[in-house]
Amino acid sequence: RTARFTLDPAFTVGTVDPRLFGSFVEHLGRCVYTGVFEPDHPTADADGIRGDVLDLVRELGVTAVRYPGGNFVSGYRWEDSVGPVEERPRRLDLAWRSTETNRFGLSEFISFLRKIGPQAEPMMALNLGTRGVAEALQLQEYANHPGGTALSDLRAEHGDKDPFGIRLWCLGNEMDGPWQTGHKTAAEYGRTAAETARAMRQIDPGVQLVACGSSGRSMPTFAEWEATVLQETYDLVDHISLHAYYEPLDGDVDSFLASAVDMETFIEDVVATCDHVGARLKSRKKINLSFDEWNVWYMSRTQEQVSALDWPEAPRLLEDNYSVMDAVVLGSLLIALLRHADRVTVACLAQLVNVIAPIMTEPGGPAWRQTTFFPFAQASRYGRGEVLDVRVDSPTYATEKYGKADLLHATAVRGEDGAVTVFAVNRSRTGPLPLDVALNGLGLTSVVEHSVLADADPDARNTLDEPERVVPHAAEGTTLDGGRLTAVLEPLSWNVIRLA
Ligand code: AHR
Repeated sequence: RTARFTLDPAFTVGTVDPRLFGSFVEHLGRCVYTGVFEPDHPTADADGIRGDVLDLVRELGVTAVRYPGGNFVSGYRWEDSVGPVEERPRRLDLAWRSTETNRFGLSEFISFLRKIGPQAEPMMALNLGTRGVAEALQLQEYANHPGGTALSDLRAEHGDKDPFGIRLWCLGNEMDGPWQTGHKTAAEYGRTAAETARAMRQIDPGVQLVACGSSGRSMPTFAEWEATVLQETYDLVDHISLHAYYEPLDGDVDSFLASAVDMETFIEDVVATCDHVGARLKSRKKINLSFDEWNVWYMSRTQEQVSALDWPEAPRLLEDNYSVMDAVVLGSLLIALLRHADRVTVACLAQLVNVIAPIMTEPGGPAWRQTTFFPFAQASRYGRGEVLDVRVDSPTYATEKYGKADLLHATAVRGEDGAVTVFAVNRSRTGPLPLDVALNGLGLTSVVEHSVLADADPDARNTLDEPERVVPHAAEGTTLDGGRLTAVLEPLSWNVIRLA
């Protein structure tokens, strides 16, 4: 059976915020050390940034970059990470049972972002685990105040005369999780977040703040946590965070392929919770969503690794090697985010390099693109503009976790120039999926490109030995005729169909 939908410029979801294509650099494993930063690498610049990685980061098209954690941030002492490198202390990183050398710190991170280009902006996470309001204010003053105070002058003394201009701040990380250093109840966290936000706005009323939501939809406190935290912080924050990671558990590949069903439900549940609190408070303000950690992560394989660590520096941790199937799921998660672009205005693929990442590196050796690199790069490049409302009529398949799921998952984005890009996933492991799209009033006449990520072997991966085993290819037979787009989507495929 053919999957169908209609595109019409009169029916839209919302405008894509560029920060939907954010990423995440945590001091975890080799994300920073031998990932982004490797002074001895042949491509490294004077600041120790790997040039090969920087090129791939630019090609990936990342925007907001969250830093320095993650779980790491709940023990982070920002002052350890600034000033003369030789004076920076080595510290225990409780989150990842590793030793943090602080060789790469705040100033190095900001300079890395500036090298990526103007599209990259910092999203700085604050330690509300072992620290609180005072340290948040100190960091804000050090980072953003122009000069003439102790901490802003210290920044200049450290070589950064210009303020870092950090606009977007996370008020802690996953504070609902018992694994988090300094874990709190919703009431405790809500108060801390509110007081931190209030004080930060005294320095700069224009800061953009993200309160911690649940670290997963399956958390026992989910929804109640958001409601309690927002009751305290509603007028003081701009976003609430969501985190979600997916993997095929117990071999349940069919449910894994439909992970975006869970992601969309999660988003809709959080929107409902935000709006419920807003209604209770009789507020006209809307809280937006920051999906600031999302990805495919084979978490169950890596949990034991961490507890076995004996405080190494930059160990190989969470270095998932992604298959074509993983990339198709990641593409579907991107579609889920775009389909909710009216409320999800920040999202960060966790993470950027080596750690559950689209970019891999070998110390002293090459950097390469994982399979998941391609859907992200294409969505960031072509998914800018107005999201059109897509309601699919699709054949379905059975999943254990989500019941019947559509084989087709799709969205479409109309750029400022009127060009439209359809992003579509065929979740079928066995068959191609014919697609028929009615195009109303869009003035489109041609198919510019139909790019596909699929493979006869859905387990195919890119590796150090074979870094270009998987790359997107062009589909054949896609046509646009008399206002109808027709295509055939290969089994288990991620598709980008560009129309002009
Ligand atoms: O991204 C890896 C970890 O996942 C982060 O440190 C944490 O916030 C989440 O649990």
